[in-house]
Amino acid sequence: MDLLKQKSLDLLRQHQSAGGAFIACPSFATYRYAWFRDGSYCALALAEYGDEAAAGRFLEWGAAVILRYQAKMRRCIERRQQGLPLVAAECLHSRFTLEGFEVPGNWGHNQLDGLGTWLWLYGRLHSTAANLPSRAQVDEAAALAAEYLAALWPEPCSDCWEEHEDQRHTYTLASIWAGLSQFAAVSGDARSRDAAAHVREFVLTRCVSSGSLVKSVGSDLVDANLIGLVQPYGLLAWDDPLFQGTLARIEQELCTPGLHRYRGDSYYGAGEWVLLTAWLGWAYAEAGERSKAQAILDWTRAQANDRLELPEQVPHALFAPAGYPEWVERWGEIASPLLWSHAKYLLLLKSIEKA
Ligand code: BGC
Repeated sequence: MDLLKQKSLDLLRQHQSAGGAFIACPSFATYRYAWFRDGSYCALALAEYGDEAAAGRFLEWGAAVILRYQAKMRRCIERRQQGLPLVAAECLHSRFTLEGFEVPGNWGHNQLDGLGTWLWLYGRLHSTAANLPSRAQVDEAAALAAEYLAALWPEPCSDCWEEHEDQRHTYTLASIWAGLSQFAAVSGDARSRDAAAHVREFVLTRCVSSGSLVKSVGSDLVDANLIGLVQPYGLLAWDDPLFQGTLARIEQELCTPGLHRYRGDSYYGAGEWVLLTAWLGWAYAEAGERSKAQAILDWTRAQANDRLELPEQVPHALFAPAGYPEWVERWGEIASPLLWSHAKYLLLLKSIEKA
């Protein structure tokens, strides 16, 4: 019996609200909210373990948020059509209460990757979604999300680490591509299909340097989130030389052996991120690299505390040691249990079990 598997499933279920939201971390004040990004991976993990009803409730939560803020989203689409600049706070936010309301205050509000991942999940769970009580609303919200992403993708926005809002990020673009492609596949929507093709073309021409993908347009750094281009989005195949070039850099520059986000990070000293390391293991497992996947599974289990909780990151081989005490002082100890870490553990484990 895998105790961490059971604990992970229990945590995800226990911390899903009645309305379908997943709290990012129940014991870390800044994360006592719901994100499209974290929640989509939590929902996917539960769906992989057969709990499609829970994943469906998360789709419904996301749909309710989108429809609540539809006027705002439409204004952003119109601004883009008129060639007017966007203001991040006036875009759909990224951090919500469990009841699905935007959280006031300063934050990197505009983050398109989360919406892209939610739309990708909608496409992926399309047959499940057929049975949802609020199916019509979920479909309507998915169509609006697709329209929004198709209009806003060329604009800078904060990345999946909620940073660098003035740049265009490869992982974010891949999430948008994935969402639009899945939506086009299930709905036949030509505008989404065309936009997806443009996004992919952009990634392959503007997000590349010296045989590797890069973190953002114009950057020379790699970011561990680039794993997402292959797993789960499939914008590139595992054996594509461009991905292999990227992977080689991620392994050389960011693995110690847990995976760091990127060189230059300083959040909590830039330790090893559990969710990223498990994500790499998930990609290895899907690619048939079983011994590497198993080594990461063992590493991930070793990061759980005595209550079998996984943190966001562990303060090992810090890239920026001075950042650790600074952030502890500001926001408290590293977030734990982080639901997204447990979700990635489950996805890795499921992939190994399937193989
Ligand atoms: C991470 C985000 C995540 C949020 C909640 C942030 O620190 O950078 O990716 O969505 O925490 O887990």
